[in-house]
Amino acid sequence: MTPVATKRRRSSSVFFVGSATLVIALLVWQSIISRPKLLPSTTRALLLQIQQHQPKQNALLSEEDLLCQTLHKAALTRHSSSSSSSSSSSSSSSAPLTAVHGFVCNLGHLPLLQNSLASIQRLREPWISIVFALNEEVCTEIADNVKKNAPVCIPHYADRVLDLMKQYEPRSYEAYEQVKRDKNASIAESARFNSEMYKILINAKLYALRDIIHCGMDAFITDVDVAFLQDPWPYFATSSSAKDNNHMIIAQNDTNPTQFRLNINSGFMYWRHNHPHSRNLTHTLISDMVWWQIDQARVNRLLFDRKIPVSLLPTRQFPNGNVLQKHNTTNQAVAVHANWNAHFEEKKNVLQAHNLWFLE
Ligand SMILES: *[C@@H]1O[C@H](CO)[C@@H](O)[C@H](O)[C@H]1NC(C)=O
Ligand SMILES: *[C@@H]1O[C@H](CO)[C@@H](O)[C@H](O)[C@H]1NC(C)=O
Ligand SMILES: *[C@@H]1O[C@H](CO)[C@@H](O)[C@H](O)[C@H]1NC(C)=O
Ligand SMILES: *[C@@H]1O[C@H](CO)[C@@H](O)[C@H](O)[C@H]1NC(C)=O
Repeated sequence: MTPVATKRRRSSSVFFVGSATLVIALLVWQSIISRPKLLPSTTRALLLQIQQHQPKQNALLSEEDLLCQTLHKAALTRHSSSSSSSSSSSSSSSAPLTAVHGFVCNLGHLPLLQNSLASIQRLREPWISIVFALNEEVCTEIADNVKKNAPVCIPHYADRVLDLMKQYEPRSYEAYEQVKRDKNASIAESARFNSEMYKILINAKLYALRDIIHCGMDAFITDVDVAFLQDPWPYFATSSSAKDNNHMIIAQNDTNPTQFRLNINSGFMYWRHNHPHSRNLTHTLISDMVWWQIDQARVNRLLFDRKIPVSLLPTRQFPNGNVLQKHNTTNQAVAVHANWNAHFEEKKNVLQAHNLWFLE
């Protein structure tokens, strides 16, 4: 990965641009019923950052409450009819989706994130995403460089990931501490494919998934090496029934059945929150899996073991790097995932080759 210079001013390090609909009733209600909770010291930074923007009445809220408020404010409501695309999955009976589109990003991946955000802004109906930033500079850079429909950026999300990791997967946390000590590595900067810190980076998306689901919204989680060409939301609105198991999880086909039979690409998934198992599953993903596995293995193994039905998206509409290598066309593509490679330059080349690189 190419590291990105971080010379910019720090003053505007945090910013929240949410949808204008403040959930005032929720805030008041929460501030009445919430009790102060003791917080681990490493999460204070995140808390303080959020509190700066949520003054006074929230003094008694826990970190999770504050995070949920931030996510709720930025949640999207999408109707399946919002697109005129020729999606076969649109249905007139679809209920609107209340969802968060989340990216997890560190400084090393920033150009890819900016490219993905730019691709969304080129669509006819762009939306506002949420960035779970592993280091604060990600938020600063976005504040300085993304002028239109800037995403909501949560700084210091790494602190929360590490706190939860310490609590729920202590062996991974110990491994993290070891690597940090031995290699003087930092979760914030490391992006080298298959490095120890890279595993934390990619697993961090499972923490974002858990947080969004536990806050009561659908979660659309994508990696930063995704470029959007059309509106993907109609593909997620295929059913209005919360009990429709087949649509609890909708994911990109990773087209690699020899590795995982379910073929789920965990870097492009839509999870419904209102399913009886969604809270349990997203918590189990971080708490109960084989130590130190990557997210793709965790998601595929758990959902396979629990026999959770998953809908895979069609590969021509949602091609990954493997499909692109074979077919070399984005004619029908809704979103392109430049994966199946290891390095920033390869990802950039794939995106450029298909006219999907929108940065200078
Ligand atoms: C560890 O890394 C930090 C910055 O990444 C650097 O300032 C420090 O000198 C390094 N320490 C050692 C012992 O290499
Ligand atoms: C996913 O891709 C694999 C490999 O191309 C294919 O065999 C499989 O049928 C696909 N699954 C679905 C549900 O489309
Ligand atoms: C999640 O579900 C599994 C299997 O049904 C159960 O064993 C486990 O205790 C549940 N975990 C939580 C946190 O509810
Ligand atoms: C892919 O298609 C483009 C034109 O659409 C062409 O320029 C390029 O050479 C092709 N690449 C491969 C590997 O076939």
